[in-house]
Amino acid sequence: MRRHDKIVIESFYNTTIFLFFLIMVLITDKTLEQEANKLLEKSIIYYQDKAVGAVAAADSEREALNYDQCFIRDFIPAALVFLIQGKTDIVYNFLTATVGLQKQKRRIDCYQPPTGLMPASFKVESPAEGTQYLHADFGDKAIGRVTPIDSCLWWIILLRAYVKATRDRDLAHSKSFQEALIFILNICLGPQFEMTPTLLVPDGACMIDRPMGLSGHPLEIQSLFYMALRAAREMLIKNDQNKSLINDINSRLGSLNYHLRGYYWLDLKQLNEIHRYQAEQFGESVVNKFNIYPESIPHWLTEWMPDRGGYLAGNLGPGKMDFRFFTLGNLTAIMGSLTTEKQSEDILTLIENRWSDLVCKMPMKLCYPAIEGLTWRIITGCDPKNTPWSYHNGGSWPVLLWMMMAACQKMGREDLADRAMAIAEIRLMNDQWPEYYDGINGRLIGKSSRKFQTWTIAGWLLAKLLRDNPDCLDYVCFEEDTEAIACTI
Ligand code: GLC
Repeated sequence: MRRHDKIVIESFYNTTIFLFFLIMVLITDKTLEQEANKLLEKSIIYYQDKAVGAVAAADSEREALNYDQCFIRDFIPAALVFLIQGKTDIVYNFLTATVGLQKQKRRIDCYQPPTGLMPASFKVESPAEGTQYLHADFGDKAIGRVTPIDSCLWWIILLRAYVKATRDRDLAHSKSFQEALIFILNICLGPQFEMTPTLLVPDGACMIDRPMGLSGHPLEIQSLFYMALRAAREMLIKNDQNKSLINDINSRLGSLNYHLRGYYWLDLKQLNEIHRYQAEQFGESVVNKFNIYPESIPHWLTEWMPDRGGYLAGNLGPGKMDFRFFTLGNLTAIMGSLTTEKQSEDILTLIENRWSDLVCKMPMKLCYPAIEGLTWRIITGCDPKNTPWSYHNGGSWPVLLWMMMAACQKMGREDLADRAMAIAEIRLMNDQWPEYYDGINGRLIGKSSRKFQTWTIAGWLLAKLLRDNPDCLDYVCFEEDTEAIACTI
């Protein structure tokens, strides 16, 4: 055979193999998408014949506990999927139902939720044939009695996404929605025993809803707070009555942004500074404002911090910095432009450089590293669900994929999100869409993990939809803020 003929046959062979794989990938992708859509549809709950939300998980093999309820935070990726698919009614119904559940009356005793709080979850109760009502849990029934502070923040973020998707401002401008917004803003911006712009919250007040050492000023809450304030400012009617509230929002946004960008930021340069910090400084213009002792830098971090890249610390308070990497807070900080352009790029560079720790076999770790030994005993109260590299304590949560996609798309790093999607895809369907994965590599399905977890399904679907519809990215992202009142401290 002539050399030329050989080359022609070889290239024909290679092209056929390539096309075969391409077709296989496309077929698998379609099957996955169809399956995910079908399961999402099945998770929907109805109230008075209207779709109002979705159960957290539909796993018939495990005791439901409260997984048969609709959690506000869990419903966010599902709601965004519905908005992108044009199924806006369910989101309208969800927003309206939750406004009805929000605590609006003065509380009678301290075991009742404070005014403005949104529930962690709700469920449809049918006490008798033909009657139905919505029963909410504000943490007053939840394991450990944790306060769901992220609910009201996610709720405002979703309201803005709804307005962006439908271009209908009437719902947001209605009396009950304006009131709901003001209730939330009052509880967040009201007086507190604090000298910092960050929100002071108890442990377990967000997605990590069990003791994990998050009390104080955890990053997740601050990032969501920042986004929610920006969303609220867009949703409030601009009139004389709201003038001073909008002014308060602008001033808080300015200081929050200054505080997080400056004091929470960690990279090699900053680590060097902390390593050489002088402590016990008194006065206004000191360097080590929070009296962080260099000895508190954990050993793992001096090795782990890459030469390039950085991230926002997990928490900051007097004499204490939580050096752990928390994925949700860092990704939402990028989405909300809480971090500078350069810091946002650096967070993604860090994820890229520490891929085998943060993504590995399943995107992605909720936090890194896990706490172990005596620290685990003291901080979690010996919680058997949060053992090292499991659940909230270094477990891997596929729901984070959509935030990874949004943050990567915003920063033009789709290559990273695509890599993460390729890892998750086939595994998620084969493993029946688990809630979380265990192990340092994320290879095991979480030991108490529910299957058919709605936000795993919706999170994957949303990542896919965002990738295919980049114009929908602004439902969940914000450009650099130009209205905030700059902090001059
Ligand atoms: C777990 C998660 C929480 C979630 C709930 C329902 O408690 O920690 O974030 O909302 O399950 O899925």
